[in-house]
Amino acid sequence: MEFFEYREGGLSAEEVSLSEVASAVGTPCYVYSKRAFLSQLSALREAFAEADPLVCYSLKANSSLAICAALREAGAGFDIVSGGELFRALKIGADPATIGYAGVGKTEPEIERALDAEVLLFNVESVNEARAINHVASRMGVVARIALRLNPDVDANTHSYTTTGKKENKFGIEFSQARELIGVLRGLDAVDLAGFHLHLGSPISTVEPYLAGLGKLLPFIEEARSNGVDVRYINVGGGYAIEYGDNTTVGPAEYAAAIVPLAKKSGCKLIMEPGRFIIGNAGVLLTSVTYLKRTPTKAFAICDAAMNDLIRPALYGSYHRIWPVKTSLPVDAYDDPGGEGGQIVDVVGPVCESGDFFAKGRRLPDLSEGDLLAVFSAGAYGMTMGSNYNSRPRPCEVLIDGAEYRVIRRRETYDDLIRGEVF
Ligand SMILES: Cc1ncc(COP(=O)(O)O)c(C=O)c1O
Repeated sequence: MEFFEYREGGLSAEEVSLSEVASAVGTPCYVYSKRAFLSQLSALREAFAEADPLVCYSLKANSSLAICAALREAGAGFDIVSGGELFRALKIGADPATIGYAGVGKTEPEIERALDAEVLLFNVESVNEARAINHVASRMGVVARIALRLNPDVDANTHSYTTTGKKENKFGIEFSQARELIGVLRGLDAVDLAGFHLHLGSPISTVEPYLAGLGKLLPFIEEARSNGVDVRYINVGGGYAIEYGDNTTVGPAEYAAAIVPLAKKSGCKLIMEPGRFIIGNAGVLLTSVTYLKRTPTKAFAICDAAMNDLIRPALYGSYHRIWPVKTSLPVDAYDDPGGEGGQIVDVVGPVCESGDFFAKGRRLPDLSEGDLLAVFSAGAYGMTMGSNYNSRPRPCEVLIDGAEYRVIRRRETYDDLIRGEVF
């Protein structure tokens, strides 16, 4: 959030006023600060420097090509979970030797493309997936490097939909099953078990889940080594949290202080998969108030952005700070229902669902129709989770770089909505 500043004339990112961007490209639109996401990447790298990690940006957080290209130029690798994400990574010239392929349901055509591209590692989540990778690799006459994703049954204290390291989750392999799988892998010629992977959930705002997961993983690595496995990689996943305005989280230094000593002790190359930490607070969603509506009990600000543009509040009940782009009130007056001034409103979209909201019962300055609002912390899992629900064209995306800005994805048109359909 600190990358977006209120100056005279309203909210700006780097040297560009967001009112100016909205007048030029219309709303709703996503706006990202390049300086913001590059500085997040550097902050993580600096904190973890002692372990010299391979930082694989998790493309699912925001896979817009211009953003991925800028991160690649800055030296990031990529964490992918589908053939489509592989396509995007290769499109922006990512070095396949920096790509890790995760996900529970890789199909054979996806595996084949990734092998053809020579990605660094497949993070394997089941015995049948290992067999499928072996089958495809053997048909192609190559050997696939794999890391087993373990499920340490650790509670990451996230929303239940984004917890991935508990035994009831579909992710990862339980330790005794992983032991058996290591036995199975001995009989498979086309896979090379090169490491282990953990991803516990997202966002994880304390270090304890990482410590608990690694506390179980490290002895397992030793055991695997004593059974002849040449373990070279330890992947600690992503999940590094950001501040949304209603929470507190540790920062890169605290994550590193917990993880680096254990990674070094493992004697493995450290891989990390941050997504949200890099891009979450580097983006805002700009939206205009279409109508103000008052019922006998409530006030609504009905905006031109909706749940199809940013689904996190509807999906997870996520908090996003919202504030007018032009305001004379101090920003820290936000969201105190017991505070004074302004009004309490539900900030909602035009979609035909009561779940279509960005904030409920939020204190905002008095609004007028046409006012521009910024929905903060929208850089991660915003546009990538967008849809065309209610046949709404998806918004455009703008990248700010110093005093310059450019459209990095044009707004969809009605023709885009029906592309590929026949009747
Ligand atoms: C395997 C894996 N790695 C990394 C991430 C990125 O998480 P975050 O954006 O919270 O860093 C995810 C998110 O779902 C994931 O599933």
